[in-house]
Amino acid sequence: MDIPTKNNRKILVTQALPYANAPLHLGHILEAVQTDIWCRFQNLNGNECHFFCADDTHGTPVMLKAKEMDISPEKLISDMYDDHKKTYDIYGINFANFYTTHSDENRKFSENIYLEAKKNNLISKETIEQLYDENEKMFLSDRFIKGSCPKCGAEDQHGDNCSVCGASYDVLEIKDPISIVSGTTPVKKKSEHVFFDLPKTIDILNRFLDKSNLQTPIKNKLKEWLNDDLKKWDISRDAPYFGFEIPEEDNKYFYVWVDAPIGYIASMENWLKDKKLNATDLWSKNSDYEIYHFIGKDIAYFHGLFWPALLSSANLKLPDGIFVHGFLTINGEKMSKSKGTGISAKDFAEMCDPETLRYYLAAKLNDKVEDLDLNFEDYVQRINSDLVGKYLNIASRSATFLKKNNNELSENIDKNLIKSLTDEKEKIIKLYEERNYSKLIRLIMDLADDVNKYINEQTPWKKDINEAVSICSTSLNAFKIITIYLSPIIPNITKNAYKFLNLENCSFDDVDIKLSGKINTYKSLLNRLEPLIIPEEDNMENENIIDIKQFSNVDLRVAKILKAEDVKDADKLIQLTLDVGELGTRNVFAGIKSSYAPAELNNRLVVLVNNLAPRKMKFGISEGMVLASSNDDGIYLISPDEGAKPGMKVK
Ligand code: MSP
Ligand code: ZN
Repeated sequence: MDIPTKNNRKILVTQALPYANAPLHLGHILEAVQTDIWCRFQNLNGNECHFFCADDTHGTPVMLKAKEMDISPEKLISDMYDDHKKTYDIYGINFANFYTTHSDENRKFSENIYLEAKKNNLISKETIEQLYDENEKMFLSDRFIKGSCPKCGAEDQHGDNCSVCGASYDVLEIKDPISIVSGTTPVKKKSEHVFFDLPKTIDILNRFLDKSNLQTPIKNKLKEWLNDDLKKWDISRDAPYFGFEIPEEDNKYFYVWVDAPIGYIASMENWLKDKKLNATDLWSKNSDYEIYHFIGKDIAYFHGLFWPALLSSANLKLPDGIFVHGFLTINGEKMSKSKGTGISAKDFAEMCDPETLRYYLAAKLNDKVEDLDLNFEDYVQRINSDLVGKYLNIASRSATFLKKNNNELSENIDKNLIKSLTDEKEKIIKLYEERNYSKLIRLIMDLADDVNKYINEQTPWKKDINEAVSICSTSLNAFKIITIYLSPIIPNITKNAYKFLNLENCSFDDVDIKLSGKINTYKSLLNRLEPLIIPEEDNMENENIIDIKQFSNVDLRVAKILKAEDVKDADKLIQLTLDVGELGTRNVFAGIKSSYAPAELNNRLVVLVNNLAPRKMKFGISEGMVLASSNDDGIYLISPDEGAKPGMKVK
């Protein structure tokens, strides 16, 4: 579908709602920056565009995280809300409203949309069998189960697929399942669930995919899913669940993916509370508004199928487009806390001007679903060369000559140079509209190169003051145009650039207006970046060199687990009774329960720190420590090779 190019369009935009169980990472900022640039551009180009978001607060991960922190889910989501809001603000994300899915508005819309679907015969019930954790008294979704692959027998496989042989299976088939929540063996249990009849909406969805603005690979993938064995969608969860109860049911909750996208509508409803419209008007079939969702590639199914199906079941407008981006990697690696690449968005903003991240991400973003890499060396080089070396350099070198003229601009400027910049406006608008930011930035930097070349060729330093001021007034007019072109990407730096030029904020129409009068004295708008170094825990440890004597002070021993038991009232601990050969037995409380079940530990060999000062705990005395390694995915005990005997020294 062609994108409308007329002005005065009314546009509503959303980005995916970040989960409220952790701080924002740089992947979230990528999405926010891509979306924010687009919305700012629309407004600067004569359209009315509003950007909505909210925290996605419901579901099991939030519930378990709150439990782990020993706070209520309400407290967790309220703290996270403040943190997320602050972080988006640091990166200049200009929401019309940033709300929460845990709101009255969202409850109301979730109930209404569901009841409409029910009225339209799209809701049914079926009894299903699931794994149930009797310790925690909860049903376990796939991600909270691990066990051995039913096909190849590989141990320690999570959920419904095997990372060793690639098989996917029903989680009920997994061998020796363990609940990750409690470390115990779950049982099978039946429960009645509420289903949304997705297959009944197949025609509507096919039409939606044909009509709306989608990237081709996404459209193809969605079509494939749609026409390949579409199943009814299980939209209920049993208690305990942090979410909204389903009306007309007993103790059943909406699955988080039902009320999450409805949170888009609720965020708009909340924004409209003092205005004449309400969100149902915006989402009605004859709404004046275009609606677009920006999302990452992992949630295309939800937005491309479930969401339009839900909307259509309630007779609401379907989105005009869904724009999907790829995933961000850092220095070539997936983001991971243990590798130091899982840096939080807030911490990153401490290392450099957050606006430089907006620029870098824009320089890498296009309209494709490709992943993109944030490489620290490339980052610093890019910012210093483009923003400092090309763009701002025009202002700083031109300002020097104007200063000699009491900062007074000349009216006599080189129209050819200016025309060569204004001529690119339509192209630039098109590239913004199509989200082709990387190409756009290349074009704008080419223009900056042209202006610098113009100054070099005109050699104002060799000219008399009048001529020099005229040359530099030309280059400052060019600088103004480039500033407008860049303003959706770096709104703060460009705002300061306008101040320097004695201008109010400009729109794309102002590209054609000539600067006149006086400018202000130039003050640096961005400092060159120094190399970025993430304070990695590992790095600091590496600098902490010890000698062999210090190392040998640690008495490491091979030990065998004689007994492993749960510890009452301790979520993370397993009590180990260790055989340390001639040294006797030891009692150790190990914080490994999130990754191991007591039953799988019996008779395992481990490495014990034997001479650690005993530690008195609520549950008893811990007489040492077993060695383990860990990352985001879990904890891994260190085991001696076969043949080692309890009591042997490790050195
Ligand atoms: N809560 C859901 C979305 C509900 S929308 C109704 C969710 N949350 S999330 O926090 O996991 O992700 C939010 C957005 O960030 C998603 O669009 C996701 O694709 C995106 N990203 C998460 N990790 C990312 C990268 N590493 N890189 C780029 N985007 C990433 O999904
Ligand atoms: Zn397997």
